[in-house]
Amino acid sequence: MTPAETFAIRTATSADEIPRVERMWLALYELQRQQGMQMVPPPGAFALWASSIKPTLGRFGQLFLAEGSGALIGFLAARVRSAPPWFGGATVGFVSEVWVDPEARGRRVGERLVRAAEEWFRGQGIERAELQVMATNDAARALYRRLGWDDELLQMTRRLA
Ligand SMILES: CC(C)(COP(=O)(O)OP(=O)(O)OC[C@H]1O[C@@H](n2cnc3c(N)ncnc32)[C@H](O)[C@@H]1OP(=O)(O)O)[C@@H](O)C(=O)NCCC(=O)NCCS
Repeated sequence: MTPAETFAIRTATSADEIPRVERMWLALYELQRQQGMQMVPPPGAFALWASSIKPTLGRFGQLFLAEGSGALIGFLAARVRSAPPWFGGATVGFVSEVWVDPEARGRRVGERLVRAAEEWFRGQGIERAELQVMATNDAARALYRRLGWDDELLQMTRRLA
């Protein structure tokens, strides 16, 4: 059996599935904190995130789930949003979170998740996709580059207090 046959990607079928990604969502932001992210989600952040994605699910937002033998091994959250009118106001696809469990990495789960999001965007006629990635996250940056994503902006921050 090839690695590709050991997992499947699908979209969440209902908002009831959102809580399933909580442990991965928390692990992602803990990893990003270790990678230098200064905005740390406060206690209860996942519930706030869940309630923001819930009303959009299947319309302006999508939750892609990677499952192997029925168990969740990764997820990707995506949404569509509008560029500001002064940049033409086009609809843009945004990938907000991507996670693959450590033991499932290196088997193209991340690649399939990102490609699934790209297809979802393309199916809506969207011509541009965006995401933010920690500058120090070499694995994720290599994945995105392999899939044709380009470096565009560099976000700078300054502590004021
Ligand atoms: C980044 C992440 C999603 C990659 O998932 P994955 O399923 O292991 O990646 P894939 O197997 O699909 O990798 C596809 C390609 O991406 C690149 N890549 C992935 N992981 C890499 C690594 N650790 N080092 C270098 N390149 C890597 C390679 O080009 C790879 O192709 P190859 O195996 O032929 O070299 C996973 O490591 C992860 O969840 N990391 C923690 C969370 C995270 O960083 N999320 C992204 C936030 S923006």
